[in-house]
Amino acid sequence: MPWNPDVYHKFQSERFAPFEDLLKLIRVREGLRVIDLGCGTGELTRRLADALPSSEVVGVDSSAEMLLRAESLVRPGLKFERRAIEDVAGEWDLVFSHAAIQWVDDHASLVPRLLSLVAPGGQLAVQLPSNHNHATHTIIIEIAREEPFSQALKGWTRRSPVLRLGEYAELLYRHGGRDLVVFEKIYPHVLENADALAEWTSGTALVPYFERLPTELHEPFLHAYRTRLRAKWPESPVFYPFQRTLFSAVRPTLAHDQNPV
Ligand SMILES: C[S@@+](CC[C@H](N)C(=O)[O-])C[C@H]1O[C@@H](n2cnc3c(N)ncnc32)[C@H](O)[C@@H]1O
Repeated sequence: MPWNPDVYHKFQSERFAPFEDLLKLIRVREGLRVIDLGCGTGELTRRLADALPSSEVVGVDSSAEMLLRAESLVRPGLKFERRAIEDVAGEWDLVFSHAAIQWVDDHASLVPRLLSLVAPGGQLAVQLPSNHNHATHTIIIEIAREEPFSQALKGWTRRSPVLRLGEYAELLYRHGGRDLVVFEKIYPHVLENADALAEWTSGTALVPYFERLPTELHEPFLHAYRTRLRAKWPESPVFYPFQRTLFSAVRPTLAHDQNPV
């Protein structure tokens, strides 16, 4: 199962709050050259472009299915390209990424590379989910380690590449980022019931498992997952405290005061 825009969009309104928080960190100037890494279906890229006057914004994503939705949003100053985050090059006034780099491994080398794409005086601004220790995620790994799934997955489970908050701050500072803002925030969601939790993760965390499992094992996997979620959250509604990491760093110009953090 590749990325599915319909499933992903079911919880679209819940994803707006972290986007608005990230947007507040951006130093708005006229005419910014902007890249949005892992732009998905492009709605948030469009909102970003609309918030930045006279900007030239490029949204990139590796999923053809997600980008198909973005096509209708193209306008002067906003375009989309199919490209992996790992392959992005160039120099940008704003390197932006919302809910995407958790899919890229090795953040200890990724973060410095993203920072290296930022022009002097420009900014890196990132939001990524850091709720991989929540039971909605640990239950997926638990089931993937059981048969018949473990054999079908050849023992594979997904290890989250997400680092501790302080590690992002360290990396940013060590690689020349300044004016750092680094924080975690819980976004409190209230969902109808445990099945809604399964629906949420089937648009995100379950995707790489379904990409690897044969189709006939998708439903049994989902059944096992729903059963365990229902046992853990028998109530309705269900409270889902969703933890996210947000960080921003500026790349100083030569004239920039080197002291401020
Ligand atoms: C959770 S969606 C976020 C989409 C959008 N930024 C938003 O916040 O609505 C994650 C997106 O990252 C993309 N993605 C995952 N790994 C990627 C990679 N290595 N390179 C480019 N895009 C990637 C997926 O295709 C998906 O569209």
